[in-house]
Amino acid sequence: MEIALHIENLYVNYGQTPALSGVCLDVLDKEFLGIIGPNGGGKTTLLKAILGLVPVSSGKILVYGEEAHTRGIRIGYVPQYSFVDRRFPISVTEAVLTAMLKDVLRPGFRYSRQQKELAREYLRQVGLEQLAERQISQLSGGEFQRMFIARALAVKPRVILLDEPTASVDPHFKEDFYELLEKLNQDMTIIMVSHDLLAISAKVKRIACINRGIVYHGKAELSENVIKKMYNCPVDLIAHGVPHRVLGEHDQEGGCRH
Ligand SMILES: Nc1ncnc2c1ncn2[C@@H]1O[C@H](COP(=O)(O)OP(=O)(O)OP(=O)(O)O)[C@@H](O)[C@H]1O
Ligand SMILES: [Mg+2]
Repeated sequence: MEIALHIENLYVNYGQTPALSGVCLDVLDKEFLGIIGPNGGGKTTLLKAILGLVPVSSGKILVYGEEAHTRGIRIGYVPQYSFVDRRFPISVTEAVLTAMLKDVLRPGFRYSRQQKELAREYLRQVGLEQLAERQISQLSGGEFQRMFIARALAVKPRVILLDEPTASVDPHFKEDFYELLEKLNQDMTIIMVSHDLLAISAKVKRIACINRGIVYHGKAELSENVIKKMYNCPVDLIAHGVPHRVLGEHDQEGGCRH
């Protein structure tokens, strides 16, 4: 089985602040991995490290066997909603088209009709066709998040990284969204950060729990101990959210052990 993502002993620091320490993680091709963990645990940092957006202090990250800077592998990215500036003056379609930016600096560059049609198709998939010509500043939070999903698809990714993609979408779209992810998962590897543990346990087969290091990696079953180690307290709440999934422990199942 091909390995989509291989992370070995990854350390990322922001100045003196360590954000990730000794993270080891392997994700197989076409796997659907859920990433959970407390606020500030390093989940976004991990996705950014995979994308090459934050400097790595030490360790190795390979995506389909390739290093970040030499990489030809396309990775779709849906950033965490709260961190994105929504005031940028472009339309929804244009925002999706920027994913096809490769040639945009060439003099006389224009998006082709085919690219525009494709952008429409991705917007249709996320139910935003009607809003294609709107300015992005005029979208609601959930619509904005959906636009980012369309944009990630426009990369034609082999791997898609989603950072809390359902944080502000309504329950109706959430359902459609997970269906869409399941469909996409037939052709691509999906790595999704989410606090939506119920959805995670229903849709995702493997999870990684991150609190600076990998606290747990394995089947989407959470023991009380793992949750305690990860969140330091709200065991109750989560145990209620995932009532039939509170099971035995297997720490570090997928981590590197050397
Ligand atoms: N640009 C930055 N400069 C300095 N410190 C940062 C920066 N970005 C994140 N951090 C710190 O690194 C740690 C990990 O942050 P990160 O955003 O990866 O957490 P997270 O798991 O995504 O949290 P959340 O659930 O709140 O989104 C936190 O302590 C955070 O304060
Ligand atoms: Mg985050």
